[in-house]
Amino acid sequence: MLKNFWYAIEFSHVVEHRPRKVTCLGQDFVIWRRRDGSVACLSDLCVHRGGALSLGTLVEDRVACPYHGWEYESDGTCVKIPANPPGRGIPKKARVDAYPIVEKYGLVWAYLGDLPEDKRPPIPHMAEHDDPSFRAVYWQTVVEANYERAMENVVDAAHTPFVHGTAFGNPDKPEIPDYEVTQGEWHAEADILLNPPAPKGLWGMLSPKRLDTVVVTNGWYLPNVVKLHIRLPFGDLIMYDHNIPISQGRTMVKLVGYRNFFTGKWADRNAVKRIQRIFEQDRVVVESQRPELLPFDLAAELHLRSDALQIAYRRRRQELIDDGWWLGGDDIVMGDVPRREATVIPSPARRDNPELARAWVHKTRGDSHEPARSAE
Ligand code: FES
Ligand SMILES: [Fe+2]
Repeated sequence: MLKNFWYAIEFSHVVEHRPRKVTCLGQDFVIWRRRDGSVACLSDLCVHRGGALSLGTLVEDRVACPYHGWEYESDGTCVKIPANPPGRGIPKKARVDAYPIVEKYGLVWAYLGDLPEDKRPPIPHMAEHDDPSFRAVYWQTVVEANYERAMENVVDAAHTPFVHGTAFGNPDKPEIPDYEVTQGEWHAEADILLNPPAPKGLWGMLSPKRLDTVVVTNGWYLPNVVKLHIRLPFGDLIMYDHNIPISQGRTMVKLVGYRNFFTGKWADRNAVKRIQRIFEQDRVVVESQRPELLPFDLAAELHLRSDALQIAYRRRRQELIDDGWWLGGDDIVMGDVPRREATVIPSPARRDNPELARAWVHKTRGDSHEPARSAE
């Protein structure tokens, strides 16, 4: 799991003026919409006794802990301790980590790391969102698998004829012609030739009886987004899967699907149903993969030319691991053992206030890797 990236942690349309818990990188956060429409995000761990702020209430634009009512501003500072008699000051240490938020593409993105603004990797560009010829559907599901296994599944073109035989692949033509990977610092894409069967049902009405090859664009965008662009004879279907690590072995997949055909609201259900059917076929395979976690060693699994996108991902991931961006080992919060320490993801405020960060009650995850190194 990689820190220092923007993560889409929730769909915008479900975030209201009340505390809401979201989980990412094995860590809980509380988010809420302020009265001016902007969204706030704090670690869901009250600094007093570790109460979950997401179970609390909002007082104006502050979140109040459900346990003893401490009130936190959206920058993480505690501004009220109800048990204190009037006039007693609030300790400087009474604050929790706050994370920068951007709303884009119908999603709430949180910056889960401590790098300053100019050092942060970008939010992936999703051109279809602002193109009026496209219509979006939103869907989510939890997969009992590691998020990187789920990601690699989407960019893996060779599985389509086998896993999606009838819906989307063609078992009679399973070859994947060699393809070229276009790679940037934070993403990679490839145009891949597939031999799909003709679509059925509503979409089949628009299709010729037999389809020749179609070009599918598969791609990954760090840290956890995968894109699938399918060119159908009657239009484009572009899907972005956000693979949000709830824990090492469990992933919340938030999916946004754009289409520029049947763009009426009436066809939304049908579009979601198709996406869901394809996804359920993948689920069975992805949840069965062993080892559950993606190996670190490239040689631990056998790769072919047709796995080029996944290899590019694993190589780039290794570079970021070497830079200290990986949360792993001791950083992983284990739910099934007795624990006396709770940890958080380091926020920008820690870097801005090193004195405070050292004194802070909750320790950060990922410290073993020198979190500041890659910023220099
Ligand atoms: S645990 Fe949050 S106020 Fe006491
Ligand atoms: Fe698939």
